[in-house]
Amino acid sequence: MRAPSSELPIEFDGVTVTAGGVTILDNIALTLLPGPPTVLIGPNGSGKSTLLRVAMGLLTPSRGRITWGGLEKVPPLKRAIVFQRPAMLRRSAAANIRFALRAAGVPRAEHGRRVGELLELVGLGQLADRAARRLSGGEQQRLALARALARDPAVLFLDEPTASLDPVATKAVEDIIRAVSERNIKVVMATHDLGEARRLAGDVVMLHRGQIVETGAAASFFDRPQSAEAKTFLAGELLV
Ligand SMILES: Nc1ncnc2c1ncn2[C@@H]1O[C@H](COP(=O)(O)OP(=O)(O)OP(=O)(O)O)[C@@H](O)[C@H]1O
Ligand SMILES: [Mg+2]
Repeated sequence: MRAPSSELPIEFDGVTVTAGGVTILDNIALTLLPGPPTVLIGPNGSGKSTLLRVAMGLLTPSRGRITWGGLEKVPPLKRAIVFQRPAMLRRSAAANIRFALRAAGVPRAEHGRRVGELLELVGLGQLADRAARRLSGGEQQRLALARALARDPAVLFLDEPTASLDPVATKAVEDIIRAVSERNIKVVMATHDLGEARRLAGDVVMLHRGQIVETGAAASFFDRPQSAEAKTFLAGELLV
């Protein structure tokens, strides 16, 4: 079992991000707690990816602060992120994972076993020796998840993990996300897909124009949205 995480809660306190004179995140107050996945939703450009980057520690707020387990300076050793279009190394699926294990400082003697476990977890056991860049989009997304998990993270950030995947590939990725969450790894993910949010979310954070317009338990968010923006978005109308 995983030891209690020192990463959580992740606390955003008045986090503002500006770039080139534009406010991308506007005074965000948010607490990410252990438990089922937190799903970020909102239209294009609402700030989902930026929020994930701040939470990962890749981007420093222009104003406000972020803490991990109450601390401001925490090296991101127990955090992992999968970007929307993960870049694969020009080598086999197994070698991509070995590279991540080495980067995470996992002793070489454990690499063989861990590579096997991780490939099995994401259903790529048969494709260990396939060149990663020759894998299908869905397979590459699963390999990217395995690589992220090689770090043995306490928190896993996923940016649109099923964008451009078909239903079968989407289901495979969602099944992995559920399995990861059941291992007590906190998943924080962005998605455009409201169906996916309903299937996976424990709680939902809805962004619009860099602000949180609504947040809450998934069941109440989907059944009884409070804000005009959430009502519009859930009704499938264009939120501009
Ligand atoms: N470095 C930057 N400089 C200027 N503007 C930026 C920068 N990074 C992001 N933005 C802008 O900030 C806004 C939010 O971007 P972000 O990628 O976080 O949105 P998103 O919700 O993930 O959108 P999408 O659904 O399209 O992925 C966008 O308008 C984007 O163009
Ligand atoms: Mg994005």
